This record gives sequence, structure tokens and C-alpha cells, in this order.
Amino acid sequence: MKRLSYAGPPALAALACAALLGGCQRGEPAAGAADIQLAETLLPAEPALARQYERSCRLCHASAASKAPLTGFAAAWEARLRQGMPALLEHVRQGYRTMPAKGYCNDCADADFEKLIQFMARDGKRGAA
Ligand code: HEC
Repeated sequence: MKRLSYAGPPALAALACAALLGGCQRGEPAAGAADIQLAETLLPAEPALARQYERSCRLCHASAASKAPLTGFAAAWEARLRQGMPALLEHVRQGYRTMPAKGYCNDCADADFEKLIQFMARDGKRGAA
């Protein structure tokens, strides 16, 4: 699915804002067009995990419109990872703000969630997990 609208002025404006004013946006680091494109292409290497990812996490975490931290966009995950894996797992199980409980993956075990989080949070330039 193409999301060219996010490659346009809004993304550039957010970047310029961060660059010129030393980060006038609080909270989430702004993803650029390349980050969004990367998030759309990454898939876990393990086939079973890739299937779970494709029908759940990917719906939001590869879409800038959802406001979820993007897959492979490490900057968006840094502060979240500092909470530690147990807290992240709890947030996935229970749901977190606008994220639904279990991220729509009802057959995901904790071990799957952990692998999915590690896959999404890693720097995409190092390649898919
Ligand atoms: C319906 C959309 C949606 C789906 C599906 C989804 N997420 Fe999320 N996720 C979000 C949003 C939005 C946030 C950011 C919430 C916030 O901080 O406001 C988020 C945040 C997270 C976080 C960070 C939580 C924290 O404590 O900061 C983790 C971890 C996460 N998602 C994992 C997953 C996993 C694993 C899957 C798939 C099994 C998944 N998500 C599926 C929307 C989704």
C-alpha cells in the first residue's frame, strides 16, 4: 500500500521543525519518508513470526497514520525500550493507550511478543530479523 501523502510536506515540516528549533515537538521523534518506506518493507525472517506480524502488528506499526512507533525506526523505540521488556510485554498484553490488547494477535505467546518487539525496535538498516 502506498502512503505517499506522508512523504510530502507534513513530514518535511516536522523534520524542519526539529532541525531548526532543536526539536519543537515533544514526545515522538518524527519519521521521514524513508523511515516509513522501510517500515512498510520489513518482515521477520522466521515464517511463523512473519505471518503473525503481517496480520497484526504490521497493520499499525508499518503505518505512519496510526501513530504507532514504526518498525525499524530505532529512534521511536529508544525511550520505550528503556522501560524494560517486562513492562513492554505487559503493555502489549493489556493494550496501551490507543493500542488494542495483544495488538490483535490472539495466538501470540509472550515469547512471540518479545521477538516481535525486538524485530520492530531494531534499526532497520541492519536488515530484517
Ligand atoms: C491497531 C493498531 C496497533 C496494532 C495492531 C499493534 N499496535 Fe503496538 N502500538 C500501537 C500504537 C498506536 C502504539 C503507541 C501507543 C502510545 O504510546 O500512545 C503502540 C505501541 C506499542 C509498543 C510500545 C508500548 C510502550 O510501552 O511504549 C509495543 C511494545 C507494541 N506496540 C507492540 C506491538 C506488537 C508486538 C504488536 C503485534 C502483536 C502490536 N503492537 C500491534 C498500535 C498498534
